[in-house]
Amino acid sequence: MNKKLLAGTGVAFTLLFSPLSQAFASETIGDLRKVDNVAHRGASAYAPENTIAAFDKAVEMKADYIEIDVQRSKDGELVLIHDTTVDRTTDGTGKVGDFMFEELRSLDAGSWKGEQFAGEQIPTFDEILDRYHGKIGILIEIKASELYPGIEESIAEELKERNLDKPQNEKIIIQSFNHKSMEKMNDLVPKVPIGVLTSSRADTTEQALQEFSTYADYFNPSYGIVTEELVNQVHSLDMKIGSWTVRSQEAADFLLDMGVDAIISDYPDYVDPRN
Ligand code: G3P
Ligand code: CA
Repeated sequence: MNKKLLAGTGVAFTLLFSPLSQAFASETIGDLRKVDNVAHRGASAYAPENTIAAFDKAVEMKADYIEIDVQRSKDGELVLIHDTTVDRTTDGTGKVGDFMFEELRSLDAGSWKGEQFAGEQIPTFDEILDRYHGKIGILIEIKASELYPGIEESIAEELKERNLDKPQNEKIIIQSFNHKSMEKMNDLVPKVPIGVLTSSRADTTEQALQEFSTYADYFNPSYGIVTEELVNQVHSLDMKIGSWTVRSQEAADFLLDMGVDAIISDYPDYVDPRN
């Protein structure tokens, strides 16, 4: 059975109070359908990904959400970085999980993008929650959770400490390519919207989508596998669909035509030309 029906006390109640009513909520304004504009790793075309500079830029560009990648240091601190090594986006080398937090913190996570960003640090998960919740939505991706046993519990704990696990959750969503991890996350924080990420067509069968809908609120595919039929299938299972990673105006326009609920882009200005 669908997650929202399972949890629910009736469809009307669910529509009014489910997390979906606060998150990725597509509205119709006149003839224009509002699509949520998600700044991928922050406004990462304009500032170094997964840094305060990129997240502040996303706020300045009036994105609806920032997307963040969460991993864990050797001593258990939740940190934001995309790759499982620090090599590409810092001046260090090695695996994220082999560094103590203070070592990660001492790395320069900005200079690779431009000298004006020198000194940007790898942020912590809790500082990003504190700095941005209520100001902009946060799409939390748990990256490579198989490398970090128990990371789901740590993330749930941080959300609960701030009451961000409640339906009025100030637009918090959790997603991952690791679908088992998302099932677990749904058990830990059932009121927080859950997303499954994929770039595999094998995950778009009726059976696969049906299974996802028992614990997920979002099906978030790469845009290469998006079709109008897929969007309709996802919607018919009462899930939303957000797609990635948009790095051209053409890709943004394609997804707008397909009728997705959210577009995850390095360039917030491609999704919302007011920027
Ligand atoms: O939010 C979707 C997207 O971030 C998934 O891919 O590799 O950029 O984390 P990746
Ligand atoms: Ca990501």
